[in-house]
Amino acid sequence: MADFDLASSFIPALHKPASLLPIARHREALLYLIETYPVTIVVGQTGSGKTTQIPQYLEQAGWCADGKVIAVTQPRRVAATTVAMRVADEVGCKVGAEVGYSIRFEDVTSAATRIKFLTDGLLLREALVDPLLSRYSIIMVDEAHERSLSTDVLLGVLKKIRRKRPELRIIISSATLQAEDLLKFFMADADAQAKPAASDALTLDELIAQKGGRTGRMYPVDVLYLESPAEDYVEKAIETVFDIHTKEPDGDILVFLTGREEIDSAVQAISERAANLHPRAQQLMPLPLYAGLSTDQQMYVFEEAPENTRKVIFATNIAEASVTIDGIIYVVDTGYVKLRAYNPTTGIETLTATPVSKASAVQRAGRAGRTKPGKCYRLYTESSFQSLEEATVPEIQRSNLAPVILQLKALGIDNIVRFDFITSPPAELVIRALELLYSLGALDDYAKLTKPLGVRMAELAVEPMMAKTLLSAPSFGCLSEILTIAAMTSVGGNIWFQHEGEKKRMETARRKFAVEEGDHLTLLNVYQAFVTKGRKEAKFCHDHYVNFKAMTRAVSIRAQLKRYLERFGLNVEETLSSNANKQPLSVGGPDKAEQIRRCLTTGFFAHAAKMQPDGTFRNVAGGTVLHAHPSSLMFNRKAEWVIFHEVMETGEKIFIRDITKIQKGWLVEYAPEFYKIQR
Ligand code: CDP
Ligand code: MG
Repeated sequence: MADFDLASSFIPALHKPASLLPIARHREALLYLIETYPVTIVVGQTGSGKTTQIPQYLEQAGWCADGKVIAVTQPRRVAATTVAMRVADEVGCKVGAEVGYSIRFEDVTSAATRIKFLTDGLLLREALVDPLLSRYSIIMVDEAHERSLSTDVLLGVLKKIRRKRPELRIIISSATLQAEDLLKFFMADADAQAKPAASDALTLDELIAQKGGRTGRMYPVDVLYLESPAEDYVEKAIETVFDIHTKEPDGDILVFLTGREEIDSAVQAISERAANLHPRAQQLMPLPLYAGLSTDQQMYVFEEAPENTRKVIFATNIAEASVTIDGIIYVVDTGYVKLRAYNPTTGIETLTATPVSKASAVQRAGRAGRTKPGKCYRLYTESSFQSLEEATVPEIQRSNLAPVILQLKALGIDNIVRFDFITSPPAELVIRALELLYSLGALDDYAKLTKPLGVRMAELAVEPMMAKTLLSAPSFGCLSEILTIAAMTSVGGNIWFQHEGEKKRMETARRKFAVEEGDHLTLLNVYQAFVTKGRKEAKFCHDHYVNFKAMTRAVSIRAQLKRYLERFGLNVEETLSSNANKQPLSVGGPDKAEQIRRCLTTGFFAHAAKMQPDGTFRNVAGGTVLHAHPSSLMFNRKAEWVIFHEVMETGEKIFIRDITKIQKGWLVEYAPEFYKIQR
């Protein structure tokens, strides 16, 4: 079990007896189908009990005999953790005992675990070690309608596995009726001639969605539109919340925004403005829900609000289908979602606020009608709704495919073009990914995985560019440092803690760790300062506005990555102790710093940019204007050539984050092929 706390503060909401959930009536039918057919497709509205109940039914029916495990995959980490906690609670065990979860860098399972929630990406990773996923008697691919990149790949891989493991049971569950594609996918099996496959998959669609009238769908929801478009949807959402609060009867509010920054600012705005409410009036309690929150923080949204208080939850798309919050009567839908989009020409992947699809908007509205009739406020016009796309484009058609292709190759699937994808990725994306993997040295001239580099890159739980950087580090003599940098950039949350209203002082504190050459070395500095503080770590974090939780996570991630490297036979010589007594700012002298920057270039050459006279950056291919993110040291500073870790798009601007200065010559030195291709 991993070394972090298990949401001990989680107070379970009053449970509706599981026997009253819509799925309960279908228990026997479901078990029969699963027993009889290798693939079962379950369609049911969100909240009908698919995720929390089906695994329990299966366990009770004996599917875990002989120590076998039931795997339930989720596209999102948050869903995997919250659902595991809920099910553990229903079963009456601790998370990590009979019911556990496993997400990247966080394994809360044990030998006793029978029901295991995990991200679909992680299950794919397990297939590297156990190609037939033989420890599982049942694999339930949950939230398949989301069509996340890893879900799509997993479905293809499962289709292959099932030919070799006829006893394996696959359940695919989806909240929307787009399940037909899934059905066709599994029925049209290449083996069809050998074995009639027509009845292999069945759908519970009619059973669950219609039988008995009101089931998952529950109560009617009034949908309201704006008469004219909103200028600023965050502000409009806040106003709408106050309108509901002052004019509408009791009931909690769920607001869909696109990301952490918007959510944090909305939560703050509500807190400030709620102070003006009459002291005896009903109070408003704003709560955030997004993936970067710690497990404890996420749990607040499930607790009942105190008396005389209305909860208002500002959430990302997480709340659309993956997690269910009871008591929501009002939904405010801003009409936007952050989606990944990869531009094969520039090689830049961004996370951009994009209008939702009709299917999403309908799903969001449905969140309001779970316990009684509800209302959904769409912050756009009815004609905008009519012009939305029917469904969201599957992620596989708009993502950087390098990580996925690397994994498929490691699973022995060499011919990517002929792989059985439920929806094929565009050829251009496949070609770009192959090019990148080739220039990183993961693939050879025949597009086969190189040994050991490519094989190891696939095994490391970080993206290919960082994996390459890590594996190059021994030859630059900076493995210990790069290990730290990889861990710090994998934390996923903010390293810097922003106490309210103390932004200035936070900035000053941060400058103490700043290293001229950029953000990666600064992160290294912070880490080194942190781990040498011994028992005073918490005080150090408090004094320097550093996020203690994030740092603890970095320590744990680093240890896990180190174990991978040691398994490869790479010895990590810890350089930390020699710096232990020095003040921060000692990243090992100028030579070491240069080696680290060179090493970063071997992995991140495809993310290179040059500063322009106006202070913005251009990527190597030319056209794209990039801005240093305000959180970067390179914000408002001079540089020439840099590499960056991350790209994000907010409004009209594309920001780069975690930036380090490099020399132009290094690009050609470490990535001659790539820069030849570019020209
Ligand atoms: O998977 P599906 O959307 O069909 O439903 P579920 O997630 O199994 O949820 C079934 C019931 O459990 C719902 O009524 C939820 O309100 C409740 N639940 C909860 O209270 N807390 C959770 N963390 C998960 C589910
Ligand atoms: Mg579910």
